[in-house]
Amino acid sequence: MKTLRRLLRYVRPHVGALVTAYVCMIVLAATGAVFALLAGPLLKFVFTGDLHDMIYDSRGQLRTGWDLLPPAAIESLNGLADVLWFVPVLIVVSTVIQGIAQTGQFFLLGRMAQSILIALRRDAFGAMLRLSPRFYNTTAHGDLLSRLTSDAAQVEQLVFYGLAPLLRDSLAVVVLLALCFVMDAKLALVTFVVVPLAVLPIVRFARWLKRVSRRGQAAQGAINAVCYEALAGIRVVQAFANEAHEEQRLEKAARKYYGEMLVSYFIRAVRTPTMETLGLSALAVLLAYLAREVRLNQADPAHFISFFVAIVLMYDPLKKLGNTSDFLAAGSAAAERIFEIVDLTPDIRDAAGARALPPFSDAVRFENVSFDYVGTPVLAGVTLDVPKGQMVALVGPSGSGKTTMANLVPRFYDVTQGRLSIDGIDVRELELASLRRQVSVVSQDTFLFNTSVADNIAYGSPNATPEQVRAAAKAAYAEEFIDKLPKGYETVIGERGVTLSGGQRQRLAIARALLRDAPLLVLDEATSALDVESERYVQEALDVLMRGRTSLVIAHRLSTVRRASLICVLKEGKIIERGTHETLIGAAGEYARLYAMQFDDKEPSEASSAARPS
Ligand SMILES: Nc1ncnc2c1ncn2[C@@H]1O[C@H](COP(=O)(O)OP(=O)(O)O)[C@@H](O)[C@H]1O
Ligand SMILES: [Mg+2]
Repeated sequence: MKTLRRLLRYVRPHVGALVTAYVCMIVLAATGAVFALLAGPLLKFVFTGDLHDMIYDSRGQLRTGWDLLPPAAIESLNGLADVLWFVPVLIVVSTVIQGIAQTGQFFLLGRMAQSILIALRRDAFGAMLRLSPRFYNTTAHGDLLSRLTSDAAQVEQLVFYGLAPLLRDSLAVVVLLALCFVMDAKLALVTFVVVPLAVLPIVRFARWLKRVSRRGQAAQGAINAVCYEALAGIRVVQAFANEAHEEQRLEKAARKYYGEMLVSYFIRAVRTPTMETLGLSALAVLLAYLAREVRLNQADPAHFISFFVAIVLMYDPLKKLGNTSDFLAAGSAAAERIFEIVDLTPDIRDAAGARALPPFSDAVRFENVSFDYVGTPVLAGVTLDVPKGQMVALVGPSGSGKTTMANLVPRFYDVTQGRLSIDGIDVRELELASLRRQVSVVSQDTFLFNTSVADNIAYGSPNATPEQVRAAAKAAYAEEFIDKLPKGYETVIGERGVTLSGGQRQRLAIARALLRDAPLLVLDEATSALDVESERYVQEALDVLMRGRTSLVIAHRLSTVRRASLICVLKEGKIIERGTHETLIGAAGEYARLYAMQFDDKEPSEASSAARPS
């Protein structure tokens, strides 16, 4: 119910359309009914030409249907007595009215469902985009996609097929109940005891169906997750010849969905007979009661019969409500899955009273920072200053926490203890967007979008002119290869930039950072994945990028950080050495050992892994 009420908020802007669609629905039903009532007498008139006979029955009473018309209209009809084309025209007119009503209802509801779909997707996607890396660490992307696609589609179905019939049929039930009350209040009270017998199963079945739908949608999400993952890693799947294995994973997920769907079909299959049995039994009980009343109290049977007919008429809308509850169940289960995402509060967000970061002027400061992802400490009491205009390097064995430190600067994660400040302001007190505007991150695995080269370079700077894009590309030593691409800057580079080499991708990332012109740079092994040849280009581009900026550089290859003003050696989450290249070599400690290892031919395995081509 809570979910449905929340969905109604999305319907609110379209109340006009919904009401119009509803009116169309009533017109449709009414023209259908009137036409059915009039068909016999009308046809008789066509063949006999006897208007009186069409309107009045043998006792001189107005026939059913005609009594709905005002007497003046009947009067004017009498004037048409000899106009034979009157009936054919009536047929055409009522069909046209029906057609208009049908079109209006279908189109308006369709438009409403689609508009709601846009709003829902926008809200859910917007929420997803703001969730922090910590959330994505533990969530399958495929499942999220499925919430935006298949769950959203279920909600669309609910709006299109569920909402209006729900209104229509429940209104019908209410009207008929009211009618019962008017006819005989005491009997109506008895009926109130009986009707719930028919309504209760609808509600029960709907709840059951909703639970199953919810599991079904989750299973659908799991299917998507398997597909998404296998496709994202298609190279690995094929390289390991693991196609059959992935197929089995899909089959397993699909089987789970199949199981839930079986239950869902079963529920829907047994629902109708169950409801019919219960409903008709209720009617039978009522009938027995009425018969007893007539027998014992000499009540008027005609009165009871009308009453009974009203109850019987209630049966049809009740049955339809049962069918509508399918859409209701599946749709609200799906809506729940969507709202679940909308409702997540990102753990990294603007604090109340967050302020904008003024232009960077002093230093980035790690103050006794400790950090853990899931309980095991990754950083333990790190203190480090990155003063404006300087290059500070982080080196150390894999897993020592270098990337983790880098991630703290743009606040992808928050410190567990201590604080990280920029110009003396704790990053947790800053507006996230203002912080991230001043930090550019270039990492080992650059992400490029499947758009043109120019759009990729301008990704963080939508207002850049083509000249600025070119200038950035040129400065990043990317122009030469871009000019050789089939369409130059307009070449679309494939998903994740697959059509480019690692070095080319990296140079585009550098051009992107150059164009963005943020004063703070975080370079996380930006050249580590490259072969020696491309590394040289990329390193030159990086040197251009670092000029005049403040940078925290993580490097695998120590030769690239020799000129840093400060080099810190990180080991097991602690800075164990710090100094310039010369002082550290002189100190003959860990750095000196690492450096010797990379340049010592006696340890070729380490040396070659350091210069690992890719
Ligand atoms: N998202 C994460 N969730 C949990 N643990 C992580 C995550 N990322 C890294 N770690 C762990 O934190 C430690 C430091 O990792 P990282 O900072 O990437 O090291 P480095 O960049 O120095 O190689 C490692 O033990 C790693 O397993
Ligand atoms: Mg790393």
